[in-house]
Amino acid sequence: MKTDIIKININNPEPDKLQHAAEVLRNGGLVAFPTETVYGLGADATNGSAVSGIFKAKGRPSDNPLIVHIADSRDLDRLTALKPEVSEHLIKVFWPGPLTLVMPRSSAIPDIVTASLDSVAIRMPSHPVALALIQKAGVPVAAPSANSSGKPSPTCARHVIDDLDGKVDIIIDGGSVEVGLESTVLDITSPIPVILRPGGITREQLESVIGRVDICPSLMDSEAGLHVPKSPGMKYRHYAPEARIVLFEGKPEKVCKEISRIYRQNTGNGIKSIVLATDETVDCYKGIDVITMGSRKNPDTIASRLFHILREFNDQNVQVILAESIEDRGIGFAVMNRLIKASGYNVVKV
Ligand code: TXA
Ligand code: MG
Repeated sequence: MKTDIIKININNPEPDKLQHAAEVLRNGGLVAFPTETVYGLGADATNGSAVSGIFKAKGRPSDNPLIVHIADSRDLDRLTALKPEVSEHLIKVFWPGPLTLVMPRSSAIPDIVTASLDSVAIRMPSHPVALALIQKAGVPVAAPSANSSGKPSPTCARHVIDDLDGKVDIIIDGGSVEVGLESTVLDITSPIPVILRPGGITREQLESVIGRVDICPSLMDSEAGLHVPKSPGMKYRHYAPEARIVLFEGKPEKVCKEISRIYRQNTGNGIKSIVLATDETVDCYKGIDVITMGSRKNPDTIASRLFHILREFNDQNVQVILAESIEDRGIGFAVMNRLIKASGYNVVKV
C-alpha cells in the first residue's frame, strides 16, 4: 500500500486535507494523526473490518482493546450503556484532553474494539487536528498509539513513518506533540475510580476534582507479572528501544556512583552503554557517554522528550541504557511507569 504523507498546519488545519482524510476514515481506511499526547492510528470504530486493519498494521495482539476517540461528549450516550455520575465532573474539567474514561459499553461498539470486554475506553483529544478530523469524519475513531506494537509511542510524524509507512493509507504530519506520553486511563466502572495507566492527567489533578482515586496495584510493581492487569495493554513489554534498559532507583548521588561503576564494567567487557541522566546529575558522569532527559524540576519536559530519546538510541547501536529514576509524583509517576515498563521491570535499588 502507498502511504500518503500529508503535512498540515496545526493552528489552522486546511479543510481540504481534513476532508480527504475524513473520507478515507469513513470508507474504512487507516489514518495516523497527531493528538496532544502521542500520534494515533485511527479507523472508524463502528466498522469491525476497518478496526481489524489497525491490529494488523501495528502487529498488536487482539486481546488489547482500543480507545475510542470522540469530538463531542454527547456521543457518549450512544457508546456507553451507562454514564457513571463521576464522569460529568471529569469531562467538564479534563475534556478535551489527555484523560481516557473506561465505562460500561453499549452495543454500538463492535467486540474487536473492546477485545470483548463489557467496558469501552473513550477520550476526547484536545489537539485541533484530531478534533477537526473526528468531527469531519462524523464517526467515533478507534485509535491506539501509531507505533509498531512494543515500540515507544510516536511523538512526531517521523516516528510514525518509521513504523507504519506502507501499512496505512494516510499519515497526517502535524509536527511534534505536546505531552509526549499517552493519556491517563481511568476506570470509572467501580465506586472508587482506578488509574489503569498513568499519563497526561495526574492522580493529584484527578483527586482534586473527584476525591479518592486508586492506582491499579499491578502498575508500578516489579512483580507485575504476578497480577492479572485490568488494562490488558499493560501486560506487554512496551515502550522498548532495541537496547536493554536497566533502571536505577535511590538517592541521586548513590545512583550516579553505581551507574558509573556498571558503565565502566560494561566498557571493560566491550558492551556499549549510555547513561540516561538529568540536568542536575549529568555533570557527575566524567568521561562517560551520557545524555540528559531534562531537569528534575520540570518533569513535563522529561515526559515530552522520553519516547523521542528512547527511539534515538536505536540509531546509535547502544546495547545497554543505564537510566536514572526521577521522583514519581505528578507526571513523574507516568514517566517512571514508562521507564519501568521499557526496562522490562529490570530495576536496581541502590
Ligand atoms: O494518549 C493516548 O491514549 C493515545 C492517543 C492516540 O489517544 N492512545 C493510546 O492507545 O495510547 P493505546 O491503544 O496505545 O493504549 C490504550 C490503553 C491500553 O493499555 C489498553 O489496554 C487500555 O487503554 N484499554 C482500552 N480499552 C480498555 C478497556 N475497556 N478496559 C481497560 N483498559 C482498556
Ligand atoms: Mg500504545
